[in-house]
Amino acid sequence: RSSENNELLSSLEQANVYFQQQLRQHPARNKAVAYLKSRGLTGEVAKRFAIGLAPPGWDNLLKHLDEYKIKRPIQEKAGLIIARDPERQQERQDTHYDRFRDRIMFPIRDSRGRVIAFGGRVLGDDKPKYLNSPETPVYHKSRELYGLYEARKAARKPERFVIVEGYMDVVALAQHGINFAVATLGTASNTSHLEKLFRLAPEVIFCFDGDNAGRTAAWRALQASLPAMEDGRQIRFLFLPEGEDPDTLVRKEGADGFLARLNRSGSLSNYFFEHMQQDIDATTMDGKARLFSQCIPLIKLLPRGLFQQLMLDQLAQITGSQRDTIDRLLQQTPAAAP
Ligand code: GTP
Ligand code: MN
Ligand code: MN
Ligand code: MN
Ligand code: MN
Repeated sequence: RSSENNELLSSLEQANVYFQQQLRQHPARNKAVAYLKSRGLTGEVAKRFAIGLAPPGWDNLLKHLDEYKIKRPIQEKAGLIIARDPERQQERQDTHYDRFRDRIMFPIRDSRGRVIAFGGRVLGDDKPKYLNSPETPVYHKSRELYGLYEARKAARKPERFVIVEGYMDVVALAQHGINFAVATLGTASNTSHLEKLFRLAPEVIFCFDGDNAGRTAAWRALQASLPAMEDGRQIRFLFLPEGEDPDTLVRKEGADGFLARLNRSGSLSNYFFEHMQQDIDATTMDGKARLFSQCIPLIKLLPRGLFQQLMLDQLAQITGSQRDTIDRLLQQTPAAAP
């Protein structure tokens, strides 16, 4: 198994070298470089993130990897090429074709810097906007964070991380000298992402897009964060103005503007109680009951500790209840499904 994994990794590395080469050499490079420039990126940052180009065409990478004697089953298992349906295969057609065509390529690296997958973006407005590697024996997307390797290379001991939604957000922030951003890879952020980051820094700030998808993701992220809230760890939430994402915002307001927003971002507890009280009147009895029934199963997900106690204090204060009452409810209530 592990020798197969090595073959997969080596095919991915070859592909990465190839995509970067194409960004320097291929006739389609002009369009690609113009696109990257239009997004405010310099060659230096493109290089730091090893950004490349999958040229237009159905078999560019495939032929290249063939030449390097990388076996088709390995190319396929690495997610780089796709098998044609044999039923629908026409004569003289190849058995496989390139997964990534005519796209800007973002290699996803593991913590040791090995390329384990790719995300590819169209140069214009075609669909799908992003195409990602499938899960493979070397790529489990729910465990990885885009940009973590690059962030760790930029600072051995970062004070904090910011979790954003997209590749472009990570790269645009780095372009402005904000080198501690990482992105989840098309999956919701989960406890294992947080554990990974908290091993490296005491503070994590979630910063999703200022749109409905982003706001939904933020509340999901809060819920997933609760089991990771050990005392001494800090989680905060930065909400962006409607229609903005970290990329558009840092380009408008610069690094200072973005950093100022980060520093003003609210705590997990603020967001928690604000969200919970949005459509609940905590002065009425039925409002209090609803607040209890919504808050307590979530507070129960927190590790036992000071933070959990403080959250219970806060709930007591909001509802004007005794802590005794709340402690009794806590004992009787099952934790929310994590
Ligand atoms: P840009 O337009 O390049 O700035 O992308 P974005 O990151 O701002 O995209 P958006 O806010 O629409 O989506 C956030 C993230 O969701 C992206 O970075 C991708 O990881 C993912 N995503 C967006 N569109 C697609 C898609 O069409 N397919 C897949 N698989 N993922 C997508
Ligand atoms: Mn595995
Ligand atoms: Mn969005
Ligand atoms: Mn976005
Ligand atoms: Mn964007």
